[in-house]
Amino acid sequence: MHIKLNNSPSPAGVFPRTVHAEQLALRLLGRDSLFNYGRSGLFLAGPHRTGKSTFLKHDLVPQIERLGAFVIYVDLWAKQAADPAELIAEAVRDALRKAETTGIRVSKALQKIKKVNLKAKMKSVFEAEFGIEIDDVGTREGASLAQAFTALNQHIQKPIVLIIDEVQHALTTPDGAQMLFALKAARDALNLKSPAIPQLAILATGSVRSKIAALVLKKSEAFYGAALADFPALDASFVEFVLKTKLAHVRTEALPATVNAVKAFELVGNRPEDFDLILQQAIVSGSSMNVALIEYAVRRRVEMLNELKRQLAMLPPLQRAILRRMAEEDVDFAPFTAAALAYYAKCCGESRAEKSFSNGDVQRALDALESKHRLVWRSARGAYALDDQMIGELLNDSHIADEMRLLTTPTTEDLSAEDFKSHGFFNDVSDDDWPQWEG
Ligand SMILES: Nc1ncnc2c1ncn2[C@@H]1O[C@H](COP(=O)(O)OP(=O)(O)OP(=O)(O)O)[C@@H](O)[C@H]1O
Ligand SMILES: [Mg+2]
Repeated sequence: MHIKLNNSPSPAGVFPRTVHAEQLALRLLGRDSLFNYGRSGLFLAGPHRTGKSTFLKHDLVPQIERLGAFVIYVDLWAKQAADPAELIAEAVRDALRKAETTGIRVSKALQKIKKVNLKAKMKSVFEAEFGIEIDDVGTREGASLAQAFTALNQHIQKPIVLIIDEVQHALTTPDGAQMLFALKAARDALNLKSPAIPQLAILATGSVRSKIAALVLKKSEAFYGAALADFPALDASFVEFVLKTKLAHVRTEALPATVNAVKAFELVGNRPEDFDLILQQAIVSGSSMNVALIEYAVRRRVEMLNELKRQLAMLPPLQRAILRRMAEEDVDFAPFTAAALAYYAKCCGESRAEKSFSNGDVQRALDALESKHRLVWRSARGAYALDDQMIGELLNDSHIADEMRLLTTPTTEDLSAEDFKSHGFFNDVSDDDWPQWEG
């Protein structure tokens, strides 16, 4: 059979990343001699809006299917109100239903069903063959995920790749966290026999590296030991693709040089939507694209930074100190250790030696950061992480880190408006909008 690799632009205007997808598919299915991600799973972390889901759906799923495997895709952000555990269980049930009508063993199983007296209530192929009632899979009474995956694998005679998009949501409910352990059990049950040729590969993605990293680096987590990698950002070839498809009407000599366009794309965090925006602005401005594109990219970046600075500067000192600690400690962040409490106290004014914080103070600050400001994410088991990778990136950026130091080191009462302004804060904020400090 001749298989055509699709490298032409898709009708949806999506830039195809076929080569990368094919390589990843091979590695997930144990067909790369060096990398075998299928055995213990792969977790990919990439910032918001950088094309993770698009890549999974448009590029990776077709490549996995082309290699003869069965894909189950579930996006834990698709229905915000639904319990992540239920979303995963439903995806598995859907897969069983879909597989029921396909596969080489269907006719055999159907014959078996026919032979059975109808009163025996044999409803499905999976019930007849494996004693599994699809509607109950993943419930307390029903078949376990391990049983369901084993049956599915035997029925379709193909390896299965389970893709969980925005996996960190699974950690926000106790059932979701439990579900990850059930998935691990299923993976081990299926892969134990022939680890070199995994029969259940799990690929998970998420937007916040510290959350994803915690999932695979902590011994207490279900996927401890799985591979962790950064989702590869869209690069120069994407930028060229966009220039070619979206600026097709622009005279060649008026187009920006690729190197400038790439620089602009990077300045806006490799985000296609922001790149579209600055392209539109640059075109409308009527100035030279080379200059305008960079100028609007810088403006967009400053906007993003200022928005964050504004948010940070409005926080009480303890909350800022906690954020700073989180950015520094990353996956090792532990909010209530003696070292952490000493750090907060130091940040909030060493001169006032009596200024020490209790666990209660820290808990209240964490609660506010989580539910009021949405800067921090909390798992069902009480682990904390910065909510957006960008916050961590900005706090780690040396320039921003200096500003954070300025914000957290002295007590806020000691800081004047001039202190802030001399550090470039709020240059775009009028004095009337000056933040009011709490406490
Ligand atoms: N290969 C691509 N070609 C063209 N546009 C793309 C491509 N990848 C992503 N985009 C665009 O970028 C935007 C973000 O993409 P996507 O939703 O896939 O990112 P994400 O990383 O999954 O985002 P989120 O963090 O919100 O889940 C969308 O508007 C999408 O159409
Ligand atoms: Mg997504």
